[in-house]
Amino acid sequence: MSMLERAEAAERAMSEELDRTIVKSVIYVSGDRDPRVPLTRPDNGKLVMMGQDPRLPRMPERPTLFDFFKYRFGPANHLMQSARLAQKNGVAEKLVLACLLHDIGIAGFIRGDHGYWAAQMLEPYVDEEVSWAIRYHQALRFFPDESVGYAYPQMYIKLFGADYHPDPYIQRDHQYAREHKWYMSARLICINDLYAFDPTVQVQLEEFTDVVGRHFRQPKEGLGWDASPSAHMWRTIMMPTKYL
Ligand SMILES: [Fe+2]
Ligand SMILES: [Fe+2]
Repeated sequence: MSMLERAEAAERAMSEELDRTIVKSVIYVSGDRDPRVPLTRPDNGKLVMMGQDPRLPRMPERPTLFDFFKYRFGPANHLMQSARLAQKNGVAEKLVLACLLHDIGIAGFIRGDHGYWAAQMLEPYVDEEVSWAIRYHQALRFFPDESVGYAYPQMYIKLFGADYHPDPYIQRDHQYAREHKWYMSARLICINDLYAFDPTVQVQLEEFTDVVGRHFRQPKEGLGWDASPSAHMWRTIMMPTKYL
């Protein structure tokens, strides 16, 4: 058996233990498998997954932003330490929120174009400047700005190699952001974007309860169950294996 066949067999075995068959979305496995190859549907007589995946902690009925941090996002030390640094640097409160949320695309959704995804997820719930800054931090991260002491991240040389050049759309969006009235807001995310975590520093999400309370419009139905233009994205994070 190839590695992929073994993985698929393990998945079938796991699926058999569950009440319902789980069929993963194309994008979750694209590359590991060739998306053009038809899926062999397990013919086990079971219904397919149409709601909360029992392998995941159940979300509260009306989930809040913090519930997503607690139940669906990866460890958020990077986000919390960045937000705390921004606070220490005297950054305006709504941009502290931007720092706290700038990488939720990576923490809970899709890495590629994480700034754009996060901005779209957040747009209905935050000030326009906050989601704008989050969208453009991704592009600005690649371009130094000596006037504010921001250098190209050493970490990026390690991650992408010394000769990496950002894609043309990243260069274009960097140019656009440079001329924008909110340029410095996106730049502030980059300045406070910590990569050197201090493992001894423990930051609790609750530290930011007031910041979130004042600057994040929590829908009363729960994030994902409201009718905002990005509610479906939150629902997908809540129920990542829903069949339809
Ligand atoms: Fe980022
Ligand atoms: Fe970051």
